[in-house]
Amino acid sequence: MDGIIEKINELKREKNAVILAHCYQNAEIDKVADYVGDSLYLSQMAAKTNAEIIVFAGVYFMAQTAKILSPDKKVLLPRLESGCLMADMINLDQLRDFKSKNPGIPTVCYINSTAEVKSECDICCTSSNAIKIVDSLKAPKVLFLPDTYLGKWIESQLNSVEVITYPGYCPTHLRIKAQDVISMRKKYPDAKILTHPECHKSVTEISDYVGSTTGIMKYAHESSAKQFIIATEKGVYDRLKRDLPEKEFIMIKDNIICQNMKWHTLDDIYNALLNEQHEIDVEKSLAKKALGCIDRMLECSNKSNNIPSAAERQVLPDEGSK
Ligand code: 13P
Ligand code: SF4
Repeated sequence: MDGIIEKINELKREKNAVILAHCYQNAEIDKVADYVGDSLYLSQMAAKTNAEIIVFAGVYFMAQTAKILSPDKKVLLPRLESGCLMADMINLDQLRDFKSKNPGIPTVCYINSTAEVKSECDICCTSSNAIKIVDSLKAPKVLFLPDTYLGKWIESQLNSVEVITYPGYCPTHLRIKAQDVISMRKKYPDAKILTHPECHKSVTEISDYVGSTTGIMKYAHESSAKQFIIATEKGVYDRLKRDLPEKEFIMIKDNIICQNMKWHTLDDIYNALLNEQHEIDVEKSLAKKALGCIDRMLECSNKSNNIPSAAERQVLPDEGSK
């Protein structure tokens, strides 16, 4: 394996490339990745990098977001079949129908959505800033899509806003059931149960901590507890087990795996870089419209993070969404 790592690192230097990896990727990808983290962190890094090529070890919408944020860079997705089943649950017609049934209400989309969908939403969010973004709108009602469970979790945390949700969901996270949490609590009474907000409400409401993938990892690093049950995709468990050998991690159940996140291998990354293949492109006028939605999120989320605004990156956001 060392050979391929060396070859990738050499190509990265030669071509001025960075590799961004989501924490659901096969853990071996971290050996070549420059940045590993959740969707928010990776989109911040995509906006910030000076590299000429971004190799995205994640799913399609993540690479598409990176391209929208850095239109002059070459963005490569090592395996093009890496889609997100949830993002594909809503298209432009379905979004328009949802909005027309609920007129005059601000529309927030999860970053797990297509560029077309983002182009007609007011602002997007990730699981780590969702509460802050929805709260920032100061609206009594908000439309949220595609993830109904993330939307309802936000509503439960804010109390002051009605979140009207589109019926999308993540098939991987919905495999986790309340009964799994109850059984694990019985078996490991001292363990903390750490859960992603894409899980069903009956799961999040009986967990000890609910947060993004990076949020879960941060909680495990900082907590004085010694035992943790992980209720999200297995990539998070693999990294925690590797990084914190003094603590014990247990997957809530077997097979909580997002197959689409697992396609990329080191060989695929090497081939993508070598041949500069599987480039993600977003049509210019669409990208401009979707950028407004993403930039409004980054501006709200990053005030203190030194992330350049759209104007500083010399790409102008659209005048606002419909
Ligand atoms: P995070 O933003 O928490 O990394 O989640 C992305 C995702 O797709 C979870 O299923
Ligand atoms: Fe999409 Fe679910 Fe996979 Fe995340 S885990 S990328 S929401 S299908």
